Amino acid sequence: MSTTSEPLKRVIVTGGAGYIGSHVIYILQETRRYKVISIDNLHNAHPKSLDRVAQLARDALPKDATKQEKESAEIDAHTCDLTRPDEIRRVFEQYGKGGIWGVVHIAAYKAVGESTERPLLYYANNVGATVSLLQVMSEFDCTRMVYSSSATVYGTPPIIPIPESTRLQADSPYGKTKVMSEAVLEDLCAAEPNKWRALSLRYFNPAGAHASGLIGEDPRGRPGNLLPLLAHMAIGRVKDDKLCVFGNDYPTPDGTCVRDYLHVVDLAKGHLLALNALTDNSEVFDSCPTPARFKAYNLGKGKGLSVLQIVEAMRKATGFDYKYEIIGRRRGDVPDLTADPALAEKELGFHADQDLETMCRDLWNWQSKNPNGYDTEIPPAQPLATTPQVYEPKTHPIPPVTAVPATVITTA
Ligand SMILES: NC(=O)c1ccc[n+]([C@@H]2O[C@H](COP(=O)([O-])OP(=O)(O)OC[C@H]3O[C@@H](n4cnc5c(N)ncnc54)[C@H](O)[C@@H]3O)[C@@H](O)[C@H]2O)c1
Repeated sequence: MSTTSEPLKRVIVTGGAGYIGSHVIYILQETRRYKVISIDNLHNAHPKSLDRVAQLARDALPKDATKQEKESAEIDAHTCDLTRPDEIRRVFEQYGKGGIWGVVHIAAYKAVGESTERPLLYYANNVGATVSLLQVMSEFDCTRMVYSSSATVYGTPPIIPIPESTRLQADSPYGKTKVMSEAVLEDLCAAEPNKWRALSLRYFNPAGAHASGLIGEDPRGRPGNLLPLLAHMAIGRVKDDKLCVFGNDYPTPDGTCVRDYLHVVDLAKGHLLALNALTDNSEVFDSCPTPARFKAYNLGKGKGLSVLQIVEAMRKATGFDYKYEIIGRRRGDVPDLTADPALAEKELGFHADQDLETMCRDLWNWQSKNPNGYDTEIPPAQPLATTPQVYEPKTHPIPPVTAVPATVITTA
């Protein structure tokens, strides 16, 4: 499929150098319809991630790529702190009023534990920065946002799988920053319904990496999430002789906590579908109860997997003989966080197709090629494709959700 002759749409991706941001940029660039502008303060990211994503996009260009296609493969990268309105404004000024089509706002702090110790830091960085960003967007007539939210907004949910209509009752300051940011967006869309439109994407547990092994999750310090922790154990960066599993007496099939893991590339595709749904002819807001064009969608597979299932899948992918010990429950852990993704499937055409085996294989491919994360030098990638990718929304019959086994590590 060839690219359209329409000019590129400029889209800002905040947190573009991070784990999810880099995969979102990859998906946007793959369409050759967007000009990506990344904003990141590199608090939890390596600038090399952006070089690697751009390399993927360049390698996929056909030999006879047009000037516009070549431009779509380059990222405008701004080192900018979103808690500093002056810095945000300086970025927008470069593109002028109306110069940015929309924003995918991914940047945030995400460590649940840290948020309980440093709540003000989290409210300033996750809520304050979102308000500043929206203010500057308004000044520059940029009024479309896709927002990175999280399943933590549900706290301990009363119904599994979790529909979007579930009351929002986050337990941690981190989770509350997501609830608050959603409220800010919804209020803004209600105040100026003809101007603003926003979609909040509530991620469940993203995992894996791009299949090339060029980009992936490169946490600073000890990984806070289960899968990267297992990858670091297998590569020898975490030298614990065993994994501590917090509790095996939860009401789940094997007693350990259950989470809904989805491949990070599938998650990234959800952002493209959400951006498509912010266009003028979109119908996703037709069912909103008020004129406010705001909606939230769960992005998950709708299939829960237990800690022990994850350990077993990583053993198969890495060949590493994980030892684990069941210790007592950890305060704040929720037994089961499995999404009901039916709304996103129906309205956005979202579907997280890739299975656990693929997530673990891709994670291990990334980790083994990059034992030191982005500080590892690796040879240039082989060209991947010659045609731009178009993700058509898919409509699938919704499979019955079987409650399968649960989490150990507190996830964002
Ligand atoms: N990874 C998960 O498991 C998960 C789950 C649910 C939701 N989320 C949400 O997804 C988003 C991205 O998560 P991730 O895993 O990619 O994390 P990440 O830390 O890899 O990426 C976040 C990026 O934002 C940047 N950033 C943070 N504060 C900033 C600021 N003030 N100004 C500019 N840049 C800033 C960081 O440097 C980093 O590159 C976050 O909003 C997180 O809350 C993540």
